[in-house]
Amino acid sequence: MTEAAEFIRRAMGGAWGADPVAVVLGSGLGALAEEVEGARRFPFKDLPGFPRSGVSSHKGELILGRLSGRDVALLAGRAHYYEHGDPKIMRVPLETFKALGVSRLLLTNAAGSLREDAPPGSLMVLNDHISWSGLNPLIGVQGDSRFVNMVDAYDPELRAALLAALKAEGQPQLQGVYMWFSGPSFETPAEIRMARLLGADAVGMSTVPEAILARHIGLRVGAVSAISNFGAGMTGLPLSHEETKEEGAKLAGRFIAVVKRFLQDLA
Ligand code: HPA
Repeated sequence: MTEAAEFIRRAMGGAWGADPVAVVLGSGLGALAEEVEGARRFPFKDLPGFPRSGVSSHKGELILGRLSGRDVALLAGRAHYYEHGDPKIMRVPLETFKALGVSRLLLTNAAGSLREDAPPGSLMVLNDHISWSGLNPLIGVQGDSRFVNMVDAYDPELRAALLAALKAEGQPQLQGVYMWFSGPSFETPAEIRMARLLGADAVGMSTVPEAILARHIGLRVGAVSAISNFGAGMTGLPLSHEETKEEGAKLAGRFIAVVKRFLQDLA
């Protein structure tokens, strides 16, 4: 049990949630937090071991409540490796989910697309990743549990459920491989050409260390990327964080609908 989980239990007046699902909200995707019914909000600063996030589109709150008839724990404002230089920065939030009874985790992010058939505004289900940063959040962990299997790291059932939710919401059933660049600078056009050659479909600055940590902790992981732009050099236009936030706002409605459908139809 993390100290944060104990704090939350005390604040909630005892055990909370029946088979709750956790969701980590990516850049520009925080609007989902407004949909939570009976929301109890815990600023990260009140939760021991939780990171401080300084990214302008991130809030820094853990929200407990109900969405689509299900108990949910939402993290609005993840911390990124590029803010702290620590690939384990999300361990305590993920361990706190586990201590609260979460077994399934949905990671969301904003990402650049490497595929012409996935333009800005698309939602892409992740089926695998490439940890291009070369970093690993489990370095220094002792014992054999550190040798985490990463075949089907993105849980086949959750992937199928996400694709079904896309279909039900009339969205193309896109899926692909996410490549983690540390950021915070965007990629160069040459790096994007390389990423395409190496088999990536999307690039971003989060999710991969969290997926590895979550597998180590024993959470089942699903992930979805909200495509905010084409990768650097693919259009001749410069990239900006403004664009990430604007695109996030534009697709918020569809993103919310897909996540709600996913939650509603989960067994
Ligand atoms: N690269 C990395 N991270 C991102 C991008 C991108 O093009 N778009 C949104 N997050």
